[in-house]
Amino acid sequence: MSGKKIGVLGCGMIAELGHLPALKHVAGISLHAVYDVNWNRALEMQSRFRIPHAFPTEKAFWESDIDAVVICTPAPFHLANVLQAAQYGKHVLCEKPLAMNEADILRMMKVMEDAGLMLLTGFTYRFSGSARAIHRLVRSGAIGEVRGLRLNYLWNLHGKWSWNENGERIASPLRVGRMLEGGPMVDCGVHQIDLARWWLGSEVEWQRGIGVWVEDYQAPDHLYLHMGHSCGAHTMVEISFSYNATSREPRTHFQYELIGSDGVIRYNREEHSFELRNSHGTQWLAWHPEKNFAGMHGEFVHALSTGDLRDMPTAKDGLLATRIARLATEEAIRDRERTSQDHPSTMARAANTVTSEVTSPLDLEEPADLPPSMLSALFERTKQ
Ligand SMILES: NC(=O)c1ccc[n+]([C@@H]2O[C@H](COP(=O)([O-])OP(=O)(O)OC[C@H]3O[C@@H](n4cnc5c(N)ncnc54)[C@H](O)[C@@H]3O)[C@@H](O)[C@H]2O)c1
Repeated sequence: MSGKKIGVLGCGMIAELGHLPALKHVAGISLHAVYDVNWNRALEMQSRFRIPHAFPTEKAFWESDIDAVVICTPAPFHLANVLQAAQYGKHVLCEKPLAMNEADILRMMKVMEDAGLMLLTGFTYRFSGSARAIHRLVRSGAIGEVRGLRLNYLWNLHGKWSWNENGERIASPLRVGRMLEGGPMVDCGVHQIDLARWWLGSEVEWQRGIGVWVEDYQAPDHLYLHMGHSCGAHTMVEISFSYNATSREPRTHFQYELIGSDGVIRYNREEHSFELRNSHGTQWLAWHPEKNFAGMHGEFVHALSTGDLRDMPTAKDGLLATRIARLATEEAIRDRERTSQDHPSTMARAANTVTSEVTSPLDLEEPADLPPSMLSALFERTKQ
């Protein structure tokens, strides 16, 4: 098999369900090697996807003749992974969020730039056929001048609970991990932030994050983010990990709406609907799932072969989305103690009611007026 030799570092859920199947089928790519700290997991993926090499040590993986690596480890490991990639001369496509804090992302960007290597961000939503159609429609003026975006993703992150090997109900480790890494805006909302910047071709000039605490982690598990773009448009992102988190029959809500001076574009994942309504009438557009890993890797191999990034999300795109998401989360936490008159604040309510379900050692211990660097400090602590 010929083509660019790609290695995948980290063989967990997103590697199995997203990257590995896509990398197997994209022209010009040879899925060459995998590595995971969990050796059995690496062997399982090697066998499932018929990959030539699974390496037992990370050193052997880096010393192999792969041209580029797709980093699919949890976010706290991304910095160390990228430093290794730079040392061994491998281009990188890194899963989001790029790293745990801005200083780490800037360091990653510097080492890769100094080594003359590409560092790209895995914003796979950009490559959905529907997201690409929105990009074209906005540019063609199909809804006139775009004034407002409403981007919602409400889901339960696979639920509040899981069960251990003894059949006992425990707090979902996936949920605890993602909440300690920054919560839903940092984990998922970065995709929506990236789409808004990309669709509008316009940077965010101001922002405001507002939180809702359904559970009592330090970060809010349901957030609203308002962003003002330099073009004058406004974006509202609403993201939740707690929507139906305890429901027996959960439902999700995933929608994009773009409101312009001549009409609306509306995409709804659950309804499989995608429509354009303007002064000319209504067009029902081809609906596609919100993610497209094969499309992303097609562009990745084009970038590797030609050096032309086209719409490939750069490290700067990853940096900006992460910066906005973390700031929104910090703003929400800072303002958590604001009370409505005669109603207890969310923290006071939690202090009175939540004892056995506290899932973070930091819950209820932090002062209300947390400095902006607080989340960074928290992320540092989770790395240890
Ligand atoms: N783009 C998307 O739609 C999407 C969806 C889910 C997750 N993600 C992102 O993908 C990344 C991985 O998420 P996941 O859900 O697959 O996690 P996961 O926990 O299921 O898998 C991570 C894997 O990495 C391995 N690992 C951990 N540290 C390692 C190291 N130092 N070296 C090698 N392997 C190591 C683990 O053993 C595990 O197999 C995260 O950054 C996450 O935010 C992206």
